[in-house]
Amino acid sequence: MKHELVLVLDFGGQYNQLIARRVRECGVYCEVKPYTTPLSELKAMNPIGIIFTGGPNSVYLNTSPQVDPEIFTWGIPILGICYGCQLMAHSLGGLVTPAQEDTAREYGKTTTYYDTSCKLFAGLPAEGISWMSHGDYMAKVPQGFALVGHTEMCPNAAIADESRGFYGVQYHPEVNHTEHGVAMIRNFLYEACHAKGDWTMGDYCKSAIAAVREKVGDGKVLLALSGGVDSSVAAALLAEAVGKQLTCVFVDHGLMRLNEGDEVEAAFSKWDINFVRVDAETRFLLKLAGESDPETKRKIIGEEFIRVFEEESKKIGAVDFLAQGTIYPDVIESGAGDAETIKSHHNVGGLPDFVDFKDIIEPLRMLFKDEVRQLGRELGLPEYLVSRQPFPGPGLAIRIIGDITKEKADTLRLADFIFREEIAKAGEDKNLNQYFAVLTNTRSVGVMGDGRTYDYTLALRAVTTADFMTADWARIPYDVLDKISVRIVNEVPGINRIVYDITSKPPATIEWE
Ligand code: XMP
Repeated sequence: MKHELVLVLDFGGQYNQLIARRVRECGVYCEVKPYTTPLSELKAMNPIGIIFTGGPNSVYLNTSPQVDPEIFTWGIPILGICYGCQLMAHSLGGLVTPAQEDTAREYGKTTTYYDTSCKLFAGLPAEGISWMSHGDYMAKVPQGFALVGHTEMCPNAAIADESRGFYGVQYHPEVNHTEHGVAMIRNFLYEACHAKGDWTMGDYCKSAIAAVREKVGDGKVLLALSGGVDSSVAAALLAEAVGKQLTCVFVDHGLMRLNEGDEVEAAFSKWDINFVRVDAETRFLLKLAGESDPETKRKIIGEEFIRVFEEESKKIGAVDFLAQGTIYPDVIESGAGDAETIKSHHNVGGLPDFVDFKDIIEPLRMLFKDEVRQLGRELGLPEYLVSRQPFPGPGLAIRIIGDITKEKADTLRLADFIFREEIAKAGEDKNLNQYFAVLTNTRSVGVMGDGRTYDYTLALRAVTTADFMTADWARIPYDVLDKISVRIVNEVPGINRIVYDITSKPPATIEWE
């Protein structure tokens, strides 16, 4: 099924993916393209509207990203955001200059007044907070444009030429700080672009299954299943599409969380696929024995994983497709919107060299993380898999500080399970983006019953974050922490002290190693 499409033209702003997500949240399919994409290519995609993103540059510099001026005679609605707004003004004969100190340079939350007779603000309050982040100023707007939004400092916070379907906003409607920002994007889509809103996960699921069937034919597909959200949803989609033609290899390196391996296996038992679970705990622990450097641990696990996968795939023989759970944020270029900077992301580095296959299949390539979760639900995967918090590939290996033994892994597994169980019981899991226990390498004196103990200190880590690049430590209520602490020291042998990590990222990282 062909969906109506809106294109986000990327000028290197930090919120570009967020813009695309917002558009999809409004029920319209959307793709991000670098600003360098030739106009003929954009036209061939037949979009119903285009959004120019923000970006770090100033439009009046020669070196700044520009667009083919013919984009403005194409007859397609355009919404310019921040740099995108200034670019539109600059390209159409307006004047953009550096803002003078104290005048129109604006950063942060700003009270903004809107002209609600403009389609962009139809049905919305005439006043609200918007999120500004611009050092340039539109000294003169192009002919044909009306001023449809202003702040105390800036007479042209929003401009529009409704006859041509051109809209520009200096602020960022895509961020949560802008009140009614998503409603403005929705207005652009439905009022200016006349979208019907045909992007639903149910439809997408059906068309994705059909597309996989067509591509795979009667070929064989191999997938490395980690138990994380992306590879699990990719596996479920392929299972639904091609059943027995799919082989999933699930390598259990012995550093998973409690019951994780069984949960993953159980989730896939409803499909008739070839599910290979490799219990490789012994060989991983043997390779890791005595090693305490975090990066070396990661390297050992990565290499051993490839070796195990290679052995298993040799048993299976030649396959036609190697499937991967690559998702859209991995595909969109990071940074300045130049085509060359697109990352080629492989969930399991190096695999394609080892497996004899004809083509790669990436069924989640166009989906954002929250859409992947939605698709997983659509496919009937259990909620514990679909809403699972991120878990690093090396697993508990990087949460056991120092060298790793099976005993330490078992200790940490149980403590981590209790932590997660109590967090869920208290309903705190909804407020946290990642939370786990760390077995520190420190032992200290304690007293239990009448005896002296000399046992390990366990650290609890819980963070809130939007993107995992920065994070804040979570304010878990003291009584919840107390309950967790009492349970762990009582139920987990070898631990006599619990500490809570109250460091943000930066300067710390989320993981301890
Ligand atoms: P840091 O510790 O860098 O973590 O603040 C940011 C996010 O990345 C995850 N992480 C990893 N994921 N392999 C992975 O697959 C790794 O080696 C690894 N190290 C950190 C971490 O769990 C957090 O979500």
